Amino acid sequence: MLSGRRILVGVTGGVAAYKAAYLVRRLVERGADVRVMMTRSAQQFVGPQTFAAITGQGVASELFGAASVSPHTELARWAEAVIIAPATANTLAKAAHGLSSDLVSATILATTAPVLLAPAMHTEMWENAATRRNVAVLQGDGRTMVGPASGSLAGGDTGPGRMVEPEEILQALELLLKGPLSGVRMLVTAGGTREPIDPVRFIGNRSSGKMGFAIASAAVASGADVILVSSADLPPPSGARVVEVETAEEMGQSVVKLAQEVDVVVMAAAVADFRPAVIEETKLRRTDGIPEIRLEATPDILASLVALEKRPYLVGFAAETGSYDTAIQKAISKGVDLTVANDVAAEGSGFGSDTNQVALIDSQGTIERWPLLTKVEVARRLCDHLAGQLNERAAKG
Ligand code: C5P
Repeated sequence: MLSGRRILVGVTGGVAAYKAAYLVRRLVERGADVRVMMTRSAQQFVGPQTFAAITGQGVASELFGAASVSPHTELARWAEAVIIAPATANTLAKAAHGLSSDLVSATILATTAPVLLAPAMHTEMWENAATRRNVAVLQGDGRTMVGPASGSLAGGDTGPGRMVEPEEILQALELLLKGPLSGVRMLVTAGGTREPIDPVRFIGNRSSGKMGFAIASAAVASGADVILVSSADLPPPSGARVVEVETAEEMGQSVVKLAQEVDVVVMAAAVADFRPAVIEETKLRRTDGIPEIRLEATPDILASLVALEKRPYLVGFAAETGSYDTAIQKAISKGVDLTVANDVAAEGSGFGSDTNQVALIDSQGTIERWPLLTKVEVARRLCDHLAGQLNERAAKG
């Protein structure tokens, strides 16, 4: 799984820097595309030439004067994952506080890739309250720690603070790259359905499909296998299998069939509740007088999924205006596992917008309100929430 992955290794100034050379060699052997950056103090322990020889790439160590105008942002954007090994107390402190006074700390600050830190320092430094605080802050910021182990340290000391072995760092990296929804098969619906009146007209709604597409993309980024059943006119998100549909009927047929193959269904689509009972074969003409369009109910897709004997984890959406009371009632009565209630009347929320204000409601009616966020961020958080729910389920058996 490391083959072809772009891994940036930051080496900072501890004696364990010599082990970083072995880590980098193992990454290269596993087929990863590896680049190395070093602090100046790291170069007191190992020379950049060692890493250059192993990776076949130049080693970056300076913020200024390098060939690139902005080496930190370039490396930060290039990396799919960043490993800091060894991570000294100094680098941990800088990363915890968002300092960026050298290439390694600036790159940590600039990257959106996952960062794995392998601390290495003397026991007193590791156990110091300042380091404890910094580690807690980093973990709260979503950085991952691997180690330290307990064992022999520089200068003949022993105790906790020793960098973990390269193989353990590789294992932690594999976990990190997997993503929280790795191995999860997810079906997402998106867009508003179109219910034909005649060959040229339809009854539609204001849904843009942006929320569902953002969920599909976030799920792919979290490692899920994603099928997107869409009635929206948006460019397909990369990595998802897209099934295009138009009507509630078509969406229902696809979703119910595919639901057998997935672990989670997220019904973000705005599915029509009614459709014309008769679809005219030819265009209705003004000259024929004002038509009366009789409506009938569309199939309730979520209800069909709830009724399945072996059903996936079900997420419904509820577009509300103002209060969430109706959404809470529906969340309890519908039998879905999670309802994402969306106040479409709130400022910056709802159809077509790039932001959304939602609340999560579980099947007991317990509500968790989220602030106004971009749809991309709502999608990311929803995927994390789903990963947590699925893990809880799996733990319960
Ligand atoms: O009851 P309400 O219309 O608020 O439910 C909305 C949820 O039900 C959405 O998740 C939507 O995708 C789903 N739905 C459905 N089948 C329908 C209508 C809505 O699955 N016919």
